[in-house]
Amino acid sequence: MPLGENIIRVCRGTACHVKNSANILFALEAELGVMAGHTTRDKKFTLEVVNCIGACSIAPVILVNDDYHGRITVKDIPKILKKYQAVKKTETAEATK
Ligand code: FES
Repeated sequence: MPLGENIIRVCRGTACHVKNSANILFALEAELGVMAGHTTRDKKFTLEVVNCIGACSIAPVILVNDDYHGRITVKDIPKILKKYQAVKKTETAEATK
């Protein structure tokens, strides 16, 4: 499977599960238009599900590339995605200078 520029890992371990990580995953799937295990058509994001990533104290947690986003709610998701879309754009702009 080709990977996207940004890898989003949604923790579905027990601690995150009890903090509603299922809803976080559904919201990400809806927002990105892909199911877990897939990459968006524009190759920006790959969505994966993982078990405990060792940050249970800030559950529910998603890991985007190397960044932990803890205690997130469904409402935070568009903001988080935007951040990575924006970062990548700037990098590309720099690279083509
Ligand atoms: S269960 Fe999600 S970080 Fe541990």
